[in-house]
Amino acid sequence: MEERRWFKSMTLYQVWPRSFADGNNDGIGDLKGILSKLDYIKSLGADAVWFSPLYVSPQNDYGYDIADYKNIDPAYGTLDDFKAVLDKAHEIGLKVVMDLVINHTSDQHEWFKKSCAKEEPYTDFYIWEKGRGKDGKKAPNNWMSTFPGSAWEYNEQRGEFYLHLYAKEQPDLNHDNPAVREAIKDVMRFWLDMGVDGFREDVITQISKRRKKDGKLPAGNPLMPASRGMEHYNNGPHIHEFLQDYRSVLAEYDDRFQVGESPMVNPKTALKYVNENRQELDMMIGFQHMEADCIIIPWVHKKFDLVKLKKVYYNWQTKLYHRAWNANYLESHDQPRIISRYGSEKLHDESGKALAVMYSFLSGTQFVYQGQEIGMTSLDYTHAPEGTDPWAQFKDISTFCVRDLMRKFGFKDAKILKTAHTAARDNARTPVQWTGGKNAGFSDVEPWFTVNPNYVGVNVEKEEADPNSLLNFYRKVIALRKKYADSVIYGKFDMYLKNDRQLFVYDKTSEDDKQKLRVVINLSEKSVPRKRVAALIPENAHEILSVYEGELGDKLRPYEARVYLLHK
Ligand code: NOJ
Repeated sequence: MEERRWFKSMTLYQVWPRSFADGNNDGIGDLKGILSKLDYIKSLGADAVWFSPLYVSPQNDYGYDIADYKNIDPAYGTLDDFKAVLDKAHEIGLKVVMDLVINHTSDQHEWFKKSCAKEEPYTDFYIWEKGRGKDGKKAPNNWMSTFPGSAWEYNEQRGEFYLHLYAKEQPDLNHDNPAVREAIKDVMRFWLDMGVDGFREDVITQISKRRKKDGKLPAGNPLMPASRGMEHYNNGPHIHEFLQDYRSVLAEYDDRFQVGESPMVNPKTALKYVNENRQELDMMIGFQHMEADCIIIPWVHKKFDLVKLKKVYYNWQTKLYHRAWNANYLESHDQPRIISRYGSEKLHDESGKALAVMYSFLSGTQFVYQGQEIGMTSLDYTHAPEGTDPWAQFKDISTFCVRDLMRKFGFKDAKILKTAHTAARDNARTPVQWTGGKNAGFSDVEPWFTVNPNYVGVNVEKEEADPNSLLNFYRKVIALRKKYADSVIYGKFDMYLKNDRQLFVYDKTSEDDKQKLRVVINLSEKSVPRKRVAALIPENAHEILSVYEGELGDKLRPYEARVYLLHK
């Protein structure tokens, strides 16, 4: 039997603070805004909230470049504001999860400044190497960062290069140095002592870099156009040792948890990390299920492929069963909105609901990203206002990096813009649409980032008032997850029709075999004929959830999804 722990059955709501709610009316989301919305988060049925970085940061990568791990960015408030949020969250029964970004810091962090000056004990806090060539100005090797371009930046002060797997303003920490690990453990204790319940750990499987005998980093596969060198740092040689070290800090506290973001992870690798005996991660945020309409990243777009998606779910659900734990999500601050990708903006509510059903009944922990529950969609960047620079619509550093790379490969801006519309992370970062009023109720003043013009029809206020809205559907789904936890959260997964391009059908059966659900989803704009539907719904099935209201027809309408309780 699967051991039951609080974080396994939780619905974890992700807040990306800058765009969540503006409490002091300066156009930027903040802790005061968050405080005012905790009851709303709770009302969804959520059990916990994960905050994308709130720490002091120059915001080159919107908080994923931390300049001080032990303080709150002034744009978001103060440590006292954070404590007020933490207290209120606990008071109403919400756990709090902090983002822990330890692969890199900001280049404005004191540690980095002191490392540039070779001030002890910081000299080896980062990954420094001498350059090549006569003048030593050629990068030490061919690694490329995830935000394309060389992964090395020359530092005049030290006369050496430092490694950055992300932007050049995000130097990588040297986890091989025990002093770095102690400094990070100290940061972890700081937040755990304050009472936070766990961490979401950023690109955590990349913190250990393979070195050659001489201590330098080996050249990467030259055929890789981005993230070159990844074979030497994804699941690197000391990763398990480092994670166990960090995990030991959690063990000093009662019942805390950690989820690791893990690029390129597959179920086989996940089993090495999420394993009771190893004491490393409690679950991993993988990406394979976000690749049903692209090749690895949304920028390399392909038509949505349901068969591919089902295969990924099948693998994760069956291979981890009773051995590890799944983290189920469809959106985050890094992913364009799901209705715009796997659903249909035309059939907004129907497809939003079908997708909610699809992933909410899978075994594992559920993640919901801000605005997902009301069906926020990606922004249309293809029509920039006349006479304006179309690139001024974007804010995300990675959008500009990919644009520059595509330009290098000869793509025209019109094509790049079209791709950015479906692929840019900016799509997930528009302000949350609270009302149909000014600035979507996000702020009294002009928000830092464009509000999606569809806020008039898609907003919390409107959906609160409509019992059939997507928002209220999410509430129902989350409540059903809890009611049928034995089968939904902890149960066994069986899938049918693996090659069907329209239907996703699966059963969830409790470990003791006493509770069984059938989930039937038409994930397409076409109806499914009566005959096919009849074969999927046993006579003794009792419907507990449906995307469409009223009489269930004998066909499945576009994006119609139903959940049945199967009686013996
Ligand atoms: C993953 C984060 O989710 C993303 O937003 C960030 O840019 C990179 N890691 C680098 O920290």
